[in-house]
Amino acid sequence: MNWKRPNTITGPVAQGKKYFRREDIEDKIWHEVSQGNSVLFLAPRRVGKSSIVSYIAENPLESFICKYEVIQAEDTIQGFFKRLIAMIRDSLSAIGKSKEWFLTWWDSWTIKTLGKDKVEIGHKEIDYRNIFFDLLDKLKESKLKVVLFLDEFPDVVLNIFEKEGEGNAKQLLADIRTLCHEDKFKSTFVLVLLGSVGLSHIVKKVTGRNDKINQLHTKYLPPLTEDQSMTFLNFLLEGATMQLSEETKRISSQ
Ligand SMILES: Nc1ncnc2c1ncn2[C@@H]1O[C@H](COP(=O)(O)OP(=O)(O)OP(=O)(O)O)[C@@H](O)[C@H]1O
Ligand SMILES: [Mg+2]
Repeated sequence: MNWKRPNTITGPVAQGKKYFRREDIEDKIWHEVSQGNSVLFLAPRRVGKSSIVSYIAENPLESFICKYEVIQAEDTIQGFFKRLIAMIRDSLSAIGKSKEWFLTWWDSWTIKTLGKDKVEIGHKEIDYRNIFFDLLDKLKESKLKVVLFLDEFPDVVLNIFEKEGEGNAKQLLADIRTLCHEDKFKSTFVLVLLGSVGLSHIVKKVTGRNDKINQLHTKYLPPLTEDQSMTFLNFLLEGATMQLSEETKRISSQ
């Protein structure tokens, strides 16, 4: 008989058949997103944030266009907004929507105009932050609903603080506040920010206060209940050669 290993995965995000559904928390996140509320999703390291959120992004509720990325490496405010624009572009092209207008819109911001008497070839200097907000207006016109899932967001605030200084880090937090707070974005654009429980500490370091991130609807990832742990163990062991006695499973689930 061939040895069949348990359905475990160690290290990377659990995806596809390896992902054990956490419907309770998936539903809580969708509940907020459906109402246009941005979410801060917090949990200590290694407990399953990225697995849950990458599943949600891959299996969106109808009418939402989703994109999940780990954005940890971003360390400038321009880089951050450039990344968001690219995520929106990718999410639209993945579902074959609105590629044309996106490209026309992009060219209008980036390619120098060709005047009647003089020809100017090349690219304009791009202020990604500025054009990002313009893109949101365009999304609103096209009645699209985009949800971006930004994994390791607190690291970006810290990176920008360290590389570009307090001013830009504060600017980023103020922009996040605007994006999450203003009604005009609510039906168009929602952010789900993921982090380990360090964000409030970072916000305090940057702003000297704790209030800049309060407008986010915070969700904590609770540990599995005993019942869920038992179901999870059965999920991992289903079809595997190695099995555990009911007694061992019960003790492991507590
Ligand atoms: N829903 C799940 N189904 C199956 N395995 C899971 C699940 N959630 C977490 N795991 C296990 O835990 C590990 C860590 O999961 P994940 O990377 O999603 O956690 P995280 O909270 O995002 O971690 P980090 O803080 O390092 O970013 C996975 O490699 C996998 O072994
Ligand atoms: Mg993670």
